[in-house]
Amino acid sequence: MAQQRILTGIRANNDLHIGNYFGAMMPIIDMAKHQVGKYEVNLFIPDLHSFTTPIDHTELYATIFNNARIFAAAGLPLDEDSIHLYRQSRISAHSELTWILDCFTGMGEMSRMTQYKDKSSKLGDEQVTVGLFNYPVLMAADILLYNANYIPVGEDQTQHLEFTRDIAIRMNSKFGELFTVPEAAAGQHKFFGKDQGLRIKDLVDPSKKMSKSDDSGKGVIFLSDSPDSARKKIMSATTDDKASVNYDKKNQPGISNLIDILGLLRGNTPQEVEAEYKGMDRYGDFKKIVADEMAAFLDEFQHSLAEVDDAAVLAKLESSERAMNEVANATLLRVQRAVGLRN
Ligand code: TRP
Repeated sequence: MAQQRILTGIRANNDLHIGNYFGAMMPIIDMAKHQVGKYEVNLFIPDLHSFTTPIDHTELYATIFNNARIFAAAGLPLDEDSIHLYRQSRISAHSELTWILDCFTGMGEMSRMTQYKDKSSKLGDEQVTVGLFNYPVLMAADILLYNANYIPVGEDQTQHLEFTRDIAIRMNSKFGELFTVPEAAAGQHKFFGKDQGLRIKDLVDPSKKMSKSDDSGKGVIFLSDSPDSARKKIMSATTDDKASVNYDKKNQPGISNLIDILGLLRGNTPQEVEAEYKGMDRYGDFKKIVADEMAAFLDEFQHSLAEVDDAAVLAKLESSERAMNEVANATLLRVQRAVGLRN
């Protein structure tokens, strides 16, 4: 049996934040380190997804490369052959499969995507592009080209993952076994063991996910934030008036979010953190503990980032891109044959 594959893409058009780090990068890097040989690991930069909404194109190239450096700084072992780090746009099969899948995707099912509805409602009419609408189909291609089984993504991507499963099942029933159907979201969470990283909330508004598109940036801790500014963001995080530290997402979402964050920083479960601080009545004291831990983490991370070997990162990207072109082209060929483009 072919090895199972874990795959995720992290968008490159903006600063990465601790939600990306703990939710997507760390699970995949941990897997990569501890399960070497058991899984193939695909970590890629979805650079074609970067301009589904308007961006500054003069910065894109540098941002893409910097994101690859960030994976290295986070501990992705560059010398491991079963770990692949690549740029989506360097593998043209992504674009080609997207077109084919487009022709089997209903306008209705795309129109129901909540991320599309959210994002398009915030943009002016002429800024809502076909690319934004089409985003989930490209994402499905990203996954299906590599026969990937496990896809660690945040809750905001669950619907896109479900669409990926739907289109794979639909194509398989029409054309025979073309695609591996990835695990459903619930199975993914079980596989990765801890899912609190996928759920880090905004510090100002803990009812919504921490997201790089947040306009003020006050609720989001970026990996590039100075330790001091991260400290301030934690100290002014929204809490509640109960004056008692408890892990209770429903009634105390702000405090629960800080518990999640502290757990991730320490490698503990939220329950372990709660047990240590339960009932603590001065939120300022608890925040200071989280803030100190966060500042220390950023300080260390930023030092590692400064020391990344750019030549090694570039060599890794290029060798993965050669290898992944082969895997992706094999899937694309299978699809092209099935739909009658080749024999
Ligand atoms: N849509 C994802 C996000 O915004 C990024 C992404 C693109 C992705 N293609 C993917 C994630 C494929 C997992 C698998 O976070």
